[in-house]
Amino acid sequence: MFMKNQRLRLYRVFSILVIAAFAIQPLSAAWRDPVRGKNAMVASQHELASRIGVEVMKKGGNAVDAAIAVGLALAVVYPEAGNLGGGGFMLIRLNDGTTTSIDYREMAPAKATRDVFVDEKGNLIRGEGSSTIGYRASGVPGTPAGMEYAFKKYGSGKVKWSELVEPARRLASDGYVLSYRLANLFKAYQGNLSRYEDSKRIFLNDGKFYEEGDLFKQPDLAGTLARIEKDGAKGFYEGKTAELIADDMKRNNGLITLEDLKNYKVKERVPIRGTYRGHEIISMPPPSSGGIVLIQVLNILENYDVTKMGWASAEKYHVLTEALRRAFADRAEFMGDPDFANVPAERLASKEYANGRMKTIDSKKASASSEIGHGAPIGNESMDTTHYTVVDKDGNVVTNTYTINDLYGSAVTAKGTGVLLNDEMDDFAARPGKANMFGLIQGENNSVQPGKRPLSSMTPTIVLRKDGSVWFALGARGGPRIITAVLQSTINMIDHKMNIQEAIDAPRIHHQWFPDHIYFEPFGLTPDTRNILEKMGHKFNDSPGNLASATGIAIEEKTGVRLGAIDSRSDGEAVGY
Ligand code: DON
Repeated sequence: MFMKNQRLRLYRVFSILVIAAFAIQPLSAAWRDPVRGKNAMVASQHELASRIGVEVMKKGGNAVDAAIAVGLALAVVYPEAGNLGGGGFMLIRLNDGTTTSIDYREMAPAKATRDVFVDEKGNLIRGEGSSTIGYRASGVPGTPAGMEYAFKKYGSGKVKWSELVEPARRLASDGYVLSYRLANLFKAYQGNLSRYEDSKRIFLNDGKFYEEGDLFKQPDLAGTLARIEKDGAKGFYEGKTAELIADDMKRNNGLITLEDLKNYKVKERVPIRGTYRGHEIISMPPPSSGGIVLIQVLNILENYDVTKMGWASAEKYHVLTEALRRAFADRAEFMGDPDFANVPAERLASKEYANGRMKTIDSKKASASSEIGHGAPIGNESMDTTHYTVVDKDGNVVTNTYTINDLYGSAVTAKGTGVLLNDEMDDFAARPGKANMFGLIQGENNSVQPGKRPLSSMTPTIVLRKDGSVWFALGARGGPRIITAVLQSTINMIDHKMNIQEAIDAPRIHHQWFPDHIYFEPFGLTPDTRNILEKMGHKFNDSPGNLASATGIAIEEKTGVRLGAIDSRSDGEAVGY
């Protein structure tokens, strides 16, 4: 009896506490709060990688040093996207306001000419020999060179290169315990991975498969990392690693040669900038389309009272879809590697251009993508996938997206290196006017050419407060949906006053001009909203699924506390101290 009363009392106290917690906690879309760190924070898609980044900063390294260590560690613990055999973009804002971006995107090998992925009948090659799988699908990797460039130019100078590589090397050589997710993801990709000897041996345990809880060691990758640790990027682009890659390519009719590897070049680029309701937006310029499309859509939305329209209202989704339709039509026509094509970046990202595009939006009726072409951004113009973010104790910010494109890239592990190679050649318009694996239609500016970088959608972005201090930094994985994920998370922060976790978790929609339908997420759209939009003429993709996955860090205004957030759509961990 006593026990029962006691339990009852405890239950009452607990209920009161829960009710009180709800009463003080403002109503919120996400119950999960962002992770708090007084000094510094890493938000990446693997806890081990985030912890490694934090350790680097505790030793005196800055956000750039930490970002390098995180990137190298993800190549070991997050093999479906983290990489040495791919490329990406690192957007940096130092605490003195200096902003820059490091473009370590893959380059087309010298043998990759315009029609390399087209057969004699003019059709796109499928399977082996295509831009999506196998030895010919890879661009020349940029990740090792990008990491070394960032270290030499923007690292703190307080930690050694070897200290950034060693944690990754150790994880590869000593192994780590496989999660349920990763063990099953290997199995899910057995169709592709089993086609290539080293991929089968390493990721499928030679056909015997791994189970959750197994210790997963990658000795070949450890060897490659040891060479990078000793010789820097040269340990990848020259000597044994390069020879292993080039020999394997040659044996299998691939495109990459020793010369291609030696000729890989990192490019430092001026970020693209815009503003949204007085907040400066800093993002990735071409060869990513991400920054321009993001700023173009924000420029259009700025003409509407998005807060008043309401977070997931039909009215807002109509305008958002129409703006995206136009921006992606421009992406298809104008965007490509700025070193090869004249991309009118500044014009496309200008308020004036957005105002002209906005005038073609009917507030009551959807337009058909078939009737929406690109705009005319004329005027003088100068030539110009996993995401993680790091903020250090001094306020330096790095926001980095890098990728091997598809999960497990081309599915080829270059023999003896442990390095999974990308299938980034599919981000080119392998046949201009025909859709790629993301359904994106792209034009001549993004056709294949030797030495050219394929157009990307990766959108590492930093948003400033009106006083010029950093408010938040974020990015995402998910092909063209990266852009809409970053865009909607940004609108959620600025217009809907969500915190960074809520902003990233909130359901999203996506439209990319073609195919002409709105993608939505399971339970992400009410039937009434859809009805209203359909009556306006919008069409929907009827297999809802997750739309990208984002990670980000905000800085709390009053306290400076770093607030880390990982998308609830995927795994990962924000770690701060
Ligand atoms: O650069 C791009 O836009 C693509 N290669 C990104 C691929 C991607 O995000 C795949 N993610 N899950």
